[in-house]
Amino acid sequence: MAKIVLAAGASVAIYKACDLASKLAQAGHSVRAVLTPRAAQLVNPQLFEAVTGEPASVDEFGPARRGAMDHIELAKWAELLLVAPASAGLIARLAHGQADDLASTLALALPANRPRLLAPAMNPTMLDARPVQRNLALLREDGWLVLEPAVGHTACGDDGKGRLPEPAELVAAVARALRL
Ligand SMILES: Cc1cc2nc3c(=O)[nH]c(=O)nc-3n(C[C@H](O)[C@H](O)[C@H](O)COP(=O)(O)O)c2cc1C
Repeated sequence: MAKIVLAAGASVAIYKACDLASKLAQAGHSVRAVLTPRAAQLVNPQLFEAVTGEPASVDEFGPARRGAMDHIELAKWAELLLVAPASAGLIARLAHGQADDLASTLALALPANRPRLLAPAMNPTMLDARPVQRNLALLREDGWLVLEPAVGHTACGDDGKGRLPEPAELVAAVARALRL
């Protein structure tokens, strides 16, 4: 079993990420959630703490920090990084090394030999958009395992490809990446 950082972007699919965090923890993994600031506007990080029993983070700045550097500490702690759901915005920051929040900064600090998985989740037209496809291609080149979005009815009302895969499938993908 592994130490996993679960980074979540501001996608409507974040409701599934809580279940994912819970299922990863039930499978015996230690799971620390990192939400982007926008993601934390959709879901309270405390929910992730409740299902994982580990601290969840959004920001590494502020008076409570007392000199700690979460982006380094979390990147050293993680044996695997799973970005789910990966919004178009978070994908762009990861693809371009734009380290302007905790999730995108810790991805840069993650040692090269650690598996990094990413599960895009967005409206089908957004997923098809050339900038998003370009950014996903860059991430694959950089060694990211980009998990295939599911096809079906999306929360925005459109049908097509762009749904976050079911949590059980993501747990299985993590197990494969860890060769468990
Ligand atoms: C309710 C709601 C749901 C959203 N769902 C998605 C989504 O599924 N995928 C996506 O890429 N953007 C989605 N967005 C837009 C992103 O939240 C927006 O681009 C945001 O800036 C991304 O923040 P992040 O890069 O920190 O994830 C949604 C916005 C709202 C308000």
